[in-house]
Amino acid sequence: MIPVILSGGNGSRLWPLSRQAYPKQFLPLVGEQSMLQETLCRLPVDDAESPVVVANDEHRFIVKEQLEAIGRQPLSILLEPFGRNTAPAVAMAAIEVARKDPKAIMLVLPADHAIENVEAFQRAVAQGQEAARSGGLVLFGITPTRPETGYGYIAAGQSGEAPGAARPVSRFIEKPDAEKAAALLSAGGYYWNSGMFMFRADSYLAELKKHSPDIYDTCLLAARSLERDMDFTRIPAEIFEHCPDDSIDYAVMEKTSKALLVPMDAGWSDVGSWSTIWDVTDKDENANAILGDACLEDSNNCLVYTSDKLVAMLGVKDLVVVDTKDALMVAHKDKVQDVKKLVKRLNGDQ
Ligand code: GDD
Ligand code: MG
Repeated sequence: MIPVILSGGNGSRLWPLSRQAYPKQFLPLVGEQSMLQETLCRLPVDDAESPVVVANDEHRFIVKEQLEAIGRQPLSILLEPFGRNTAPAVAMAAIEVARKDPKAIMLVLPADHAIENVEAFQRAVAQGQEAARSGGLVLFGITPTRPETGYGYIAAGQSGEAPGAARPVSRFIEKPDAEKAAALLSAGGYYWNSGMFMFRADSYLAELKKHSPDIYDTCLLAARSLERDMDFTRIPAEIFEHCPDDSIDYAVMEKTSKALLVPMDAGWSDVGSWSTIWDVTDKDENANAILGDACLEDSNNCLVYTSDKLVAMLGVKDLVVVDTKDALMVAHKDKVQDVKKLVKRLNGDQ
């Protein structure tokens, strides 16, 4: 099994900690090590071969250093000149893996997820192998807890109708609107898509060719002109710029008939915004999550992150306060999904 780590996002909803030059996946947000390192370190030791990491060219030295620090020799560090979303990123990795062995199983993992129960994660991965080997595109399903609009929703049949522990997927709905998400949740029987996938390199490429041939063709063309130096493999910008921008979820998973589901109950979260950091951090008796040196009086339900300054708060609630060397953000807890908008504005894009 070859781990393929998607590390190309810029994590703008975690500003001001996560920056374009040093995004969240390279920061120790939910553990001692960076999220990229944690992603690699939670893999089953016996089963995982050298990983492929797909990242932005700008971050090549951070990736290299962080892999070296945990003693992981990559099969390949694939560098994108710019992001074209996950369908092309996974395609470039699949072509790279297929060069070695087209039937090799890829375990595609985003570099920005937190998982509390590593054993349960490893068990789900082991359970999905047979289904992946038989040509399925395996999804790992999480039991939903709220009508989240940022995730994919999956309906699945019974086990016994698919290889191993997997269940056939009858529907995949990526990022439904609020009304639909609420309807799916109350209908019951749906899982969230965890955003981790497992399949043979040739299975993914065949389904991509069938459902998104433009991405397939452009990636195949780009793979003919890869630039390799000692540590890095660069995707040529002049070809990749013609690649449609689309996620694996829309480009393949919503359309394929080969999807299979393995449920996973591993304390999973996508560390996408400050509200997830609040969720995964231990709280004091007033439900405040405090990261760094802070003193809170008569305050509750707040998140404080501070790197070098003491932060003191009095008589406030539901605030997110993030203090870094050069920027301070104060936001209402209900508004943290909009930090992205704030960053756009700061960049002069809005
Ligand atoms: N290399 C590379 N290049 N990585 C990328 C790119 C890219 O262009 N775009 C995104 N990524 C990485 C992100 O860094 C992240 O680790 C992962 O791919 C997934 O991308 P997101 O942008 O975070 O996707 P999402 O969270 O909106 O949705 C996906 O994950 C949800 C669960 O967290 C979907 O798979 C949903 O269906 C799923 O529910
Ligand atoms: Mg995500």
